[in-house]
Amino acid sequence: ARPDALPRDLTGTRVVVSAGGTREPLDPVRYLGNRSSGRQGFALARVAAQRGAEVTLVAAHTADLVHPAGVTVRRVGTAEELRQAVHEEAATADVVVMAAAVADFRPVDTAAHKIKKTDRDPDPVVLTRNPDVLAELVAKRRPGQLIVGFAAETGDPGADVLEHGRAKLRRKGCDLLVVNAVGEGGAFEGEDNAGWLLAADGTETPIPRGSKAQLAAVLWDAVHLLSD
Ligand code: CTP
Ligand code: CA
Repeated sequence: ARPDALPRDLTGTRVVVSAGGTREPLDPVRYLGNRSSGRQGFALARVAAQRGAEVTLVAAHTADLVHPAGVTVRRVGTAEELRQAVHEEAATADVVVMAAAVADFRPVDTAAHKIKKTDRDPDPVVLTRNPDVLAELVAKRRPGQLIVGFAAETGDPGADVLEHGRAKLRRKGCDLLVVNAVGEGGAFEGEDNAGWLLAADGTETPIPRGSKAQLAAVLWDAVHLLSD
């Protein structure tokens, strides 16, 4: 849709969207990262701004994406930097959408200098858990504030994608959870996404395969309904 054809139904709403993949440094030149491109988070921010919202995008590492018009962008690197920026912005936000791929673990030690190759095998990399930003947002949610999570899932012998999504919504306690099926061309790096939008009240909306802007429209429609 052309921007001027979109409803301005998010006017007066302050939105924070996190996007992209965090990077956890091992030394000054190496990191643990992930394959998130940031495309879905950028599409969410762009569409929200087109619908009248005041939008801040907290962007970790992304592909080379166009700065969305009318959106304030804050760049971060590590999960801890993302955490601090999101909490600062969330303090005054009506809606927080965690579309970023936040590293679950980080190296316990970051070497001050580049780790050099020797004729011995390297020391193992020891990891520790990062805080769960989404869980922290839910724990300190203000009345009326909406918290939205994302989950990229593959099925496994124990449960399918939707079952993993339902369990994650219950575990996280957020208001909405977007569940993406990974594989079959979905989620990472591609232009398209498909999945389900799960709400805390048990409502389950299938999201047909389509562009990341179309998924964004489904999410902002649901946010608008819940905000009324
Ligand atoms: N998330 C977060 N902080 C983390 C890890 C994840 O805020 N340290 C957020 C993500 O931005 C996403 C949601 O939590 O909105 C779900 O992330 P996901 O990785 O699917 O969930 P986890 O609880 O980390 O479970 P797992 O990776 O084991 O599937
Ligand atoms: Ca995770």
